[in-house]
Amino acid sequence: MLKSMMKIDIRSARRPLEALPARMRAVGVVAGALTEEGLALDETLGGQLSATLRRSKFKGNVGETLTLVQGETFVLLVGLGGKRGVSADRVRRAGAVVAREALRLKVREVAVENFFADRLGKAEASYALTEGLYLGSYRFVKYKSGERPPRVRYWIARGRGRSVAEALVMAEATAFARDLVNEPPNVLTPEALAERARSLAEASGLEIEVLGPEEMEALGMGALLAVARGSSNPPRLIHLTYRPETKPRRKVALVGKGLCFDTGGYSLKPTDFMKHMKGDMGGAAAVLGAMQAIARLKPAVEVHAYVAAAENKISGSAYVVDEVVRAMNGKTIEVKNTDAEGRLTLADALVYAGREAPDAIVELSTLTGAAVVALGKDIAGLFATDERLGEALRSAGAGEGEKLWPMPLEEDYKQLLKSDVADIANVGNREGGAIQAALFLTEFVRDPFVHIDIAGPAFQKQAWALGPAGGTGFGVRTLVRWLLS
Ligand code: BES
Ligand code: MN
Ligand code: ZN
Repeated sequence: MLKSMMKIDIRSARRPLEALPARMRAVGVVAGALTEEGLALDETLGGQLSATLRRSKFKGNVGETLTLVQGETFVLLVGLGGKRGVSADRVRRAGAVVAREALRLKVREVAVENFFADRLGKAEASYALTEGLYLGSYRFVKYKSGERPPRVRYWIARGRGRSVAEALVMAEATAFARDLVNEPPNVLTPEALAERARSLAEASGLEIEVLGPEEMEALGMGALLAVARGSSNPPRLIHLTYRPETKPRRKVALVGKGLCFDTGGYSLKPTDFMKHMKGDMGGAAAVLGAMQAIARLKPAVEVHAYVAAAENKISGSAYVVDEVVRAMNGKTIEVKNTDAEGRLTLADALVYAGREAPDAIVELSTLTGAAVVALGKDIAGLFATDERLGEALRSAGAGEGEKLWPMPLEEDYKQLLKSDVADIANVGNREGGAIQAALFLTEFVRDPFVHIDIAGPAFQKQAWALGPAGGTGFGVRTLVRWLLS
């Protein structure tokens, strides 16, 4: 069960829209008018599309649709907005709109115009459209009795095959990450997550190494072990390696926060805040998803992925506030809040990742509510010790419709993490909480280091532009595009 159970088939076709076998044909409306493809289809339909456009109030705003019934088939008019500010992301979102309508109308064969191919070029348009179609078709129905995973075939009229194939790898890896996040916490324990990583490694030809509590003990991972101590499900440290066939130009480490559930521990979360904390392994999911795509796209970079998988729970053995724990690099940490557990697990994971002496460490975590307050649900916080590296990731994200925004690693705030009894405290105060968390992490890494706080975008409580409520797979495509560049 590596890939999603969905059967979403996307192909590019040389033929124009009207010549493709499909139950639904989707054509764009730009600035209120039919495109060239749309006009060609209109002609075969005796001008019905243009007539409808004239008579209706349909303006073709972004996201707007109008469905026409043509005997056995549908024509879907897809609003693409105006001629200004055309972007790949508009195409991606339009693809998701087409998918949503296809699923709603239970159509299994859909022919789609290669939206904005005239403006973006065939390749870029096909790429973004494929991602949108696939991600918009994503559903997690594993635990819904009698519901079957979506099954749709899409034809992209006058598309570019290579771009479709590459985008499918990206989209499937994103869906894999979504599946991991959507799995309930009683199923996806740290051990189960390690098993999924193992299956991934076996299917993709990646190396894998999994550490358990005894090995962690021997390595001195006191911070990770403290967090994990309260749960009867033991922690796992997952290390996947991708080695290119030719001599690698660079060596990179990816690290993902892997809290399979975060109750807050004794600094217990209120009920409403504990909801969806199965998603606290969104960073781990992103990193594992990225590895799936990397194994298929084979960039000339050596990539190490690390996930410290654990659960933050309460029991007689759970860690409490006032404890002092020692991380693998020897630094002591005063636990002032057991709900700031992510940075503790990451401290050891980051030190461990540093042993490989990578040229860069990129870490993703659902780390702070403060990042969500600062940037909202759609934007990740980007903290970089190296501006160029940060910009490279921001730009990779922009190309994939994933928004990352630079945040400061303000040195002056480090004093907020001072402890009376240990080298550092795991929390400071509320003000600038996301920055303090990032500063804490920098105590456990070598430069250059990038921390991406995905607490907002990793999980959506409501259906959104590229999919249903639940895990989003945020970060997968940013990481892969960055590694390919
Ligand atoms: N996993 C949470 C952060 C989070 C919040 C993720 C909302 C996704 C949505 C993290 O472990 C946490 O609890 N952080 C605390 C830190 C605080 C105790 C300094 C927070 O943000 O409240
Ligand atoms: Mn927490
Ligand atoms: Zn957490």
